Amino acid sequence: MSTSDSHTAGPTIIIFGASGDLTRRKLIPAIYNNFIKKRLPAGLRIVGFARRDWQDDQFRDHLGSGVKKYSTGFDAPVWNEFARNINYFQGDLDTTADYEKLQTILDEMEHQTADRLYYLATAPDFYGPACDHLAAAGMGTEQNGQRRIIIEKPFGRDLATARELSRQVHAAFAEHQVYRIDHYLGKETAQNIIFLRFANTLFEPVWNRRYVANVQITVAESVDVGRRGGYYDNAGVLRDMFQNHLMQLLALVTMEPPASLDADAIRNERAKVLGTVRPISLHDTVRGQYEGYRSSAGVAPDSQTPTYAALKLFIDNWRWQGVPFYLRSGKAMPAKSSTIIVEFQPPPDVIFHLGRNAHFTPNFLSICIQPDEGIHLQFETKVPDTVSESRSVNMSHSYLEAFPDVVLPDAYERLLLDALKGDASLFARNDGIEAAWLLIDPILSGWESASQTSPLHTYSMNSWGPEAADALLAKGGHAWRMGCCGLPCS
Ligand code: BG6
Repeated sequence: MSTSDSHTAGPTIIIFGASGDLTRRKLIPAIYNNFIKKRLPAGLRIVGFARRDWQDDQFRDHLGSGVKKYSTGFDAPVWNEFARNINYFQGDLDTTADYEKLQTILDEMEHQTADRLYYLATAPDFYGPACDHLAAAGMGTEQNGQRRIIIEKPFGRDLATARELSRQVHAAFAEHQVYRIDHYLGKETAQNIIFLRFANTLFEPVWNRRYVANVQITVAESVDVGRRGGYYDNAGVLRDMFQNHLMQLLALVTMEPPASLDADAIRNERAKVLGTVRPISLHDTVRGQYEGYRSSAGVAPDSQTPTYAALKLFIDNWRWQGVPFYLRSGKAMPAKSSTIIVEFQPPPDVIFHLGRNAHFTPNFLSICIQPDEGIHLQFETKVPDTVSESRSVNMSHSYLEAFPDVVLPDAYERLLLDALKGDASLFARNDGIEAAWLLIDPILSGWESASQTSPLHTYSMNSWGPEAADALLAKGGHAWRMGCCGLPCS
């Protein structure tokens, strides 16, 4: 690593595990996009730490090819200017001496004083040890500038390991220094949930048990496990998607208004609502595995790992008591679609006299997180030239149409910038993570021991999951809705 061209003031981002896919595919393109938008603090340096025997230039070329592929704004001269501030340090994640050498080099580059953002882009097994080594090398203390650390999910594989990880992290860093990334919180449309709810007069008054019949959160993925079989077979859909992304979406939809946009205010509300979710009954869970999963590389031939799950849950607070929330997520489904649907109660039938078995289609609001980002309200209207026939129509907001010049940024763009600025509002906090594990843990252990109550179903690839998931809603008189993003609506 050469430090000769890096003698400018400004913070340093140090990426541990820098030769991996996350750095090339997500982190550097996100930082580069912020560079193009002139949003980075002046004099920002990036140092990659990994085991591979690379020189600075090799590292920069490796990252440059990623930016070409994953950023829409690659421009060779701009990239070269940006890449001048990237350096590489060859080191072993499990050797304190390498952290000490890195510390010396950083001190030299920074003239002793600068803020630092450590990014653990390593395999999860290294999170704890890396924190231990950082602490041993004195790299967590804040005498010479702020020290922050970003940790990727998974935050443990159950409540006990999450607590152990937290203990290790906190041995090196205080909570205000720790930024736990859940990239769903950084998605533009997920952030917009707060605006939709609290920047409008229209929705909040009906956002409660009196008007809402049920809420459905779907995060469907068309991809299968692909080359991630080794990781996935150990994790499964509850750990991979529910404990983090779906629980955070649930929190955004259901939390009480925070007193401000301050990180603590928002995170208090998110954690508070997750803490009021009633323990989920095994009878309200469905798990599935797509056909062919067991022949994927890295997957056990008799694997019981679910690639799909659906849950029904209730929130025991004043606002939501009695309203069912249905959450589902799976791989190998017909489309990639993350949607939140709020279905409203039907109006009283005193005017139209539809009869005992007839009813209006309920109004529902679809919040499309991806891929077709937008918000759609379905309501009933009279069919012209009829006496009393009604039909469902849509009032639609599409990001693409409303903001044709804006390319929706990748979640990492916003999250990295926020971490540099010290704004933790879009990051998960320890109490929220533990609250989510408290809900997920009993299901994981219940599935292991009670295969009768909740058997593992198989489902065909390209289907919407096992039929048992439809039955889960049918029990409550409901049915899955797909939102209005080009997919079936009802
Ligand atoms: C990751 C999961 O956290 O989120 C992956 O580990 C999943 O399995 C991914 O595919 C989905 O993210 P996105 O942004 O593509 O919806």
